Amino acid sequence: AAAAAALLCAAQPALAQQVHQLITMGDLSSGYNREVFWMSIGAIILSVLIFVGTSYALFHSVRTYREDRNDAPPAQFHGNNRLEVTLVAVPVVIVIVLALLTVRAMARLNPTPTGAYPVNAVGAQFYWNFEYPNAAVNQAAGTGLVTNGNELIVPAKSKIAVTITARDVIHAFWAPNLGGQRDAIPSVKKTWQVDNDQPGVYQGLCSVLCGASHANMRFKVITLPETEYQQFISAAQNYKAPTPAAGSAAEAGYTIFMQGKDGSGACAACHRVQGTAAAGQSGPDLSFFGSRRTLGAGMWEGADVDTHLHQWIKASSSIKPGSLMPHYDGTTQGYPALTDEEINSVEAYIKSLQLPAQGNYWTKIA
Ligand code: CUA
Repeated sequence: AAAAAALLCAAQPALAQQVHQLITMGDLSSGYNREVFWMSIGAIILSVLIFVGTSYALFHSVRTYREDRNDAPPAQFHGNNRLEVTLVAVPVVIVIVLALLTVRAMARLNPTPTGAYPVNAVGAQFYWNFEYPNAAVNQAAGTGLVTNGNELIVPAKSKIAVTITARDVIHAFWAPNLGGQRDAIPSVKKTWQVDNDQPGVYQGLCSVLCGASHANMRFKVITLPETEYQQFISAAQNYKAPTPAAGSAAEAGYTIFMQGKDGSGACAACHRVQGTAAAGQSGPDLSFFGSRRTLGAGMWEGADVDTHLHQWIKASSSIKPGSLMPHYDGTTQGYPALTDEEINSVEAYIKSLQLPAQGNYWTKIA
């Protein structure tokens, strides 16, 4: 039955997809997942054969040697070399077959392929920063690498080499529909390959318990067709965060962001904004905040971002447990209490941090 199911799966990709979802709750849109799926199918078929074989041997013995059928004493003998060799050899062969299947799959999945597109993923309590090691910011726009918080944009139909690390405790990078998960360990860099078949938006998450908001450490992977991807990277490399016009709503927020209120609590101490003096490394990169669709590492999306942004700036841990951002309501020592109006101006400033239209990755996804 299992072999027949496997043949059916091979002939019917849609059925394979359903079976895969049943087993792993993922889909088969990545070569990585297909490799793991077919290896698992092989292992399952083998397991079914073993189950049927041992069950047959068991029931056959019970039936054949039942007491009421055999009043005569059983044959008396000692040892059966052929049977013993068989009983050792069969499991050895099974283990070797399983080991070969596993090693073959690992060899195909683990190495970083040549020509893979490199990105860096840095996990921290409780967000991700994604860097583009081969996309340095163009000189006129600033310094450093193109970096985005919590939203990873990569070319579609490509192999992606994700170099994964962490800043504080152990996290793990996992975008289930793009491939396997990998631990993000402080001071260790591991490169892991993921891939995808089609442009789209893929969910990602942290898959190692890492603190109070482990469950709120999500991210999105947006895979764009090559042309659209190049438009994003080019716009990002040339992006220089706008300075708010004098008298605009964002102007007061810009000052608070860069210098703090009365000289304390500058957002720039922890957040980076490309093309400005804000170069903080201990919080998510906010360079393209206004172009992002999520807040709080995927806790809120779309219109919910606007609903929660004010409270987020005021006291983030009141809506995201364990969030390490200081409160701006006077309850964190050394950080000023901002008035609602001042928070509104900070909101206006960070929302103004938008990629130009040709770089806006969300508008390129149907
Ligand atoms: Cu980070 Cu769980």
